[in-house]
Amino acid sequence: MKLIDGKAISSEIKDELKYRVAQLKKEGKEVCLAVIQVGQDPASSVYVGNKKKACEYIGINSLAYELKEDTTEVELLQLIDKLNKDNKVNGILVQLPLPSHINEDKVIKAISPSKDVDGFHPMSVGALSIGKQGFVSCTPAGVIELLKRSNIDIEGKECVVLGRSNIVGKPMSMLLLRENGTVTICHSRTSDLKEVTKRADILVVAIGKPKFITKEYVKEGATVIDVGIHRNENNKLCGDVDFDDVKDVVSAITPVPGGVGPMTIAMLMKNCVESIERDIDFC
Ligand code: GUN
Repeated sequence: MKLIDGKAISSEIKDELKYRVAQLKKEGKEVCLAVIQVGQDPASSVYVGNKKKACEYIGINSLAYELKEDTTEVELLQLIDKLNKDNKVNGILVQLPLPSHINEDKVIKAISPSKDVDGFHPMSVGALSIGKQGFVSCTPAGVIELLKRSNIDIEGKECVVLGRSNIVGKPMSMLLLRENGTVTICHSRTSDLKEVTKRADILVVAIGKPKFITKEYVKEGATVIDVGIHRNENNKLCGDVDFDDVKDVVSAITPVPGGVGPMTIAMLMKNCVESIERDIDFC
């Protein structure tokens, strides 16, 4: 069984980006990411802090906007408008979830697709589905990078994605399709789930249920990618996959923590660097 080491692979990517950022600096180009957080959700503060740290390591300038919980939708939209027009800013990220008085869809749509490093804008999502250039949601992009850098072929393989969220499941299936996988999406209404997941050469699990996937769901020799992250009753982290139960059945698997998690930030950083290296053209 091969353990897919997301921590090592994400470090490798961050080092490559650090080099690219240094080269860009020599050409007088500075990469800059604006991160907006509304309120003080503790989990969001940890994620935002990690993004800042990654920027510092790579040499990306980061602008942090820590807005009060009672910030109005109009105020937030005005800030996004200002950042859209600021030529020094290459990427804009609004940390989710937002307080309930702010319409998330409206905020996502307000970010210029050319600075949408999260890949959540409908234009970015549309570009992915019709095979055009655009930013791709960081977690599924990270899964593809993990597979490629672990020399796991996708072309022609039976790929099963468990979960259909806009942030992971749907873009994940589009990306696997783009790599010429044969893709099936499963979800809570799928009948005979085990029968479907057992067909998978590559099984990507993003359903948000701790240790849901046991060996009865997995084909012998499959690659299993676990996107879930939970804290169990002993405060230990675990994924959507029961790692100990499936580890002797699979040929490769991501651990939790240290699998998909670290890749999300690495891919966000990659999107920031690419936003300056190439002009995203949506026309
Ligand atoms: N909240 C949890 N994950 C994410 C993410 O990837 N991007 C943003 N903007 N907010 C999040």
